[in-house]
Amino acid sequence: MKKNMGSRLGLYPTPVVLVGVYDSSGKPNVLTLAWVGVACSEPPCIQISVRKERWSHDAIEAKAAFSVNVPSSKYVAEVDYAGIASGRDADKFQVSGLTAVKGEVLDVPLVKEFPVSMECKLVHTARLGSHDLYVGEIVACWMEESVAGQGAKVNAKEFSPLIYMPGGEYYGLGEFLGNGFNAGKKFLKK
Ligand SMILES: Cc1cc2nc3c(=O)[nH]c(=O)nc-3n(C[C@H](O)[C@H](O)[C@H](O)COP(=O)(O)O)c2cc1C
Repeated sequence: MKKNMGSRLGLYPTPVVLVGVYDSSGKPNVLTLAWVGVACSEPPCIQISVRKERWSHDAIEAKAAFSVNVPSSKYVAEVDYAGIASGRDADKFQVSGLTAVKGEVLDVPLVKEFPVSMECKLVHTARLGSHDLYVGEIVACWMEESVAGQGAKVNAKEFSPLIYMPGGEYYGLGEFLGNGFNAGKKFLKK
């Protein structure tokens, strides 16, 4: 039996990423975001939602650019730290031991240790309420060679992505269950 929980979010799980931006003093900063997703394939775009009170919020708008850095599961503590400390009063790269590398195309800091980093140009902003939604067009996607597979396919085991259950729980990837655009084919024959 399903119960109506009213008007509330019900999307589980979500990705969890570190978004990077240089702040007004030029310091590289990262904040943790779970409100993130793919927005478009062509051009490749990603969407992030940021509360106005975050230190990174104004910096994203000032730079009209940000990076999206996708962690592997071993960085759970670093990811969580970036979500409980603010760049207002901490140098999160220095404290966590992560390394900031400047993007090649845009003026954004990338997280060197994470297997995937995307340089994103801000192309749309929507003021939705608690969060401002930013759509970034991906102008460069940096992938660790060990995880980069064929085309859009990445090596899931090597990647070992970190997954978030809103409410406050991190998980790793579960077992392989089937191939996309294939597992449903048995119903096509009916
Ligand atoms: C798991 C996790 C997910 C988060 N997701 C978001 C999010 O999607 N949007 C947001 O504005 N803040 C989110 N936060 C909170 C920010 O990361 C946090 O307020 C951070 O300290 C802001 O950093 P800044 O002030 O340096 O920009 C999340 C925090 C955690 C731990």
